[in-house]
Amino acid sequence: MKRLQGKSALITGSARGIGRAFAEAYVREGATVAIADINLDRAKVTAAEIGPSAYAVEMDVTNQASIDAAVAAIVAKAGGLDILVNNAALFDLAPIVEITRESYDRLFSINVSGTLFTMQAAARQMIAQGRGGKIINMASQAGRRGEALVAVYCATKAAVISLTQSAGLNLIKHGINVNAIAPGVVDGEHWDGVDAMFAKYENRPLGEKKRLAGAEVPFGRMGTAEDLTGMAIFLASAESNYVVSQTYNVDGGNWMS
Ligand SMILES: NC(=O)c1ccc[n+]([C@@H]2O[C@H](COP(=O)([O-])OP(=O)(O)OC[C@H]3O[C@@H](n4cnc5c(N)ncnc54)[C@H](O)[C@@H]3O)[C@@H](O)[C@H]2O)c1
Repeated sequence: MKRLQGKSALITGSARGIGRAFAEAYVREGATVAIADINLDRAKVTAAEIGPSAYAVEMDVTNQASIDAAVAAIVAKAGGLDILVNNAALFDLAPIVEITRESYDRLFSINVSGTLFTMQAAARQMIAQGRGGKIINMASQAGRRGEALVAVYCATKAAVISLTQSAGLNLIKHGINVNAIAPGVVDGEHWDGVDAMFAKYENRPLGEKKRLAGAEVPFGRMGTAEDLTGMAIFLASAESNYVVSQTYNVDGGNWMS
């Protein structure tokens, strides 16, 4: 029996990376998945590669009209909305004395406001449907403790953990579970960019930060997007009905809490 049979899912930022892997996993489990991304061209390619149960939706999580339009398009296409994964996010890196307001505003706008107001739009739809729902927010080990060069991103992910707690407490009376996943270091295009930023600020050759980050993981390597899909399926399925407001570390042992 497929665990997400007949469910309608929205995954923000799923044109690539972790969101894409979740989309593939949800389709394998029987869901119909909206590949919702600011990069519509790539979302279309990704949806076509995944197959007929995936479809592309243009969505900018920093724009309320875009959030509302995406939810409306999903309801029209799939007959409702059962699962939201708030996955879209942006990373930046700078010493405290070099952080710009522009970077701060951009990261909080996508990672925090985007998460909250997409969660709000999905929750309104789920409450109106009256059949509960599942909301999964992408946090990070960066939300568990600060990092010298990563102050703003860390703060956004701590905010995601906190929003998950409050939203979970507020929405469980509607049968809507809100939980989060805190990955560690996950290989892919995102981390290629992170590696390049560290190379600049720590004066390292390209690839070195990535190698070190992987070597420090107790499991013995960086994670892959596929390493996270088991938790993403669990939190989207009926198996997690009694799980409320939690953030799960899926990080090869990097953090314990
Ligand atoms: N990769 C890691 O090591 C890692 C570790 C911890 C947490 N995470 C978190 O996991 C999630 C996915 O990470 P990833 O590595 O797949 O990232 P990624 O950068 O590969 O993918 C992010 C996607 O979000 C889209 N996006 C950007 N801005 C958007 C916006 N305003 N509206 C809609 N879509 C937008 C991008 O086009 C892209 O497709 C993020 O929340 C990230 O913070 C990643």
